[in-house]
Amino acid sequence: MTRDLAVALDVGTRKICAIVAEVRPDDIFVVGVGIEPSAGMKKGIVNDMGQLTSAISAAVHKAEKSSGFDIARAFVSVAGSHIASVNSRGAVGITGQRGVNLDDLDKAMEAARAIAIPHNREVLHVVPRSYSLDGQERVRSPIGMHGFRLEVEAHIITASSTSVANLEQSVRAAGVEVDRFILNPLASGDAVLTPEEREMGVVVIDIGGGTTDMAIFIEGTVWHTAVIPVGGDLITNDITHWMHVPFDVAEAVKIHHGHALQKAVDPLETFLVEPFGEGMPIEVQRNALAEVVEMRVSEMFDLVRKEIKRSGYDGLLRAGAVITGGCAQLAGLKDIAAQELGMPVRVAKPERLTGMADALRDPAYSTSVGLLRMGLSMETMSVSVRAGSTPVKGLQPFRIGRVIGGFFRRLLPDGDQ
Ligand SMILES: Nc1ncnc2c1ncn2[C@@H]1O[C@H](COP(=O)(O)OP(=O)(O)OP(=O)(O)O)[C@@H](O)[C@H]1O
Ligand SMILES: [Mg+2]
Repeated sequence: MTRDLAVALDVGTRKICAIVAEVRPDDIFVVGVGIEPSAGMKKGIVNDMGQLTSAISAAVHKAEKSSGFDIARAFVSVAGSHIASVNSRGAVGITGQRGVNLDDLDKAMEAARAIAIPHNREVLHVVPRSYSLDGQERVRSPIGMHGFRLEVEAHIITASSTSVANLEQSVRAAGVEVDRFILNPLASGDAVLTPEEREMGVVVIDIGGGTTDMAIFIEGTVWHTAVIPVGGDLITNDITHWMHVPFDVAEAVKIHHGHALQKAVDPLETFLVEPFGEGMPIEVQRNALAEVVEMRVSEMFDLVRKEIKRSGYDGLLRAGAVITGGCAQLAGLKDIAAQELGMPVRVAKPERLTGMADALRDPAYSTSVGLLRMGLSMETMSVSVRAGSTPVKGLQPFRIGRVIGGFFRRLLPDGDQ
């Protein structure tokens, strides 16, 4: 039996995660995983190619060993402040009385895509949001409908060509070809949002070490994306300065004692820290730590709130916010988010995982897991546009032959082939 396997490579600021998995309609069956600390990335941007390549190699090697497959290509995550997005319209005239066909949709998308892009930027994704036919707005699937003028509203995501090239080169130097770059929050959205949430209007917020990645989904498709260059590492830095301790100690303090809502922490509660691994431990008031953490987290959500406002869709998020990413595990984060954003908040991690998936059932791996289905569904993006369905939705059919042929150099016998 052959399997429909795909490979995800999440190149984060904090960790690199490579996953080999079988993407099935109702779940993701994980065949192998490699997780390694990241290096050479700052706020989602490569700043040391050699270090990054070694970290990627190590994660890929682990995933190869645990899966028994030799990885040749992968869907790779991309984020960073160099990402920009814009909505654009494209129109096409429909001649005769034949009804709208696939070519018309393609031409309208081409027209939408033809925006002026500076020579140092490139288009990462073009996602159709909705169509209008002879002025009738919000047509989801115009195929076969009659009219004279078809317009598409598309969401276009662009990236700095040099940032993308540096990332691609680092991945390549680790022996892996980039099958496709996928914007972090699109992948995270795929892993954690329900179809109902996307339909009602929701913002997914992935708070990692170096970046906060956002995507707004309304009526089933993506309407806005943004990458804000702040993340959980800022909280750790604040603790480093406040307590005069090394980064590693501050990180452990944040994870074990940090709280994002000061008023929820008992003023009498204290904990002990050994600042340099030896000598006298110091006693710290947890409530005072929470004050430091809350200040930073509030500021981060203030930036998120402003970005939502800037999108113009702040009144349309009926399903509220879904928060994920490693930082989503911070105690009290959900409450402060609800308070700052003024909407219902849910903290989410990847669900519907089977196989070797234990390590991945954690908010830090939403992007990593989401890359798999998202990447495969994009393989058939044009096919799904043709069928008139919503392209960014997760469950698209995919071309098995190419996937099997493309991701691995050779298939090692694993008793199941
Ligand atoms: N239990 C926890 N409580 C609080 N913070 C946590 C916890 N676990 C992880 N974090 C924080 O999450 C952040 C790392 O998240 P994640 O693994 O999603 O980052 P990344 O994907 O490598 O980075 P990015 O996406 O920003 O490039 C770090 O700041 C880390 O301190
Ligand atoms: Mg991440």
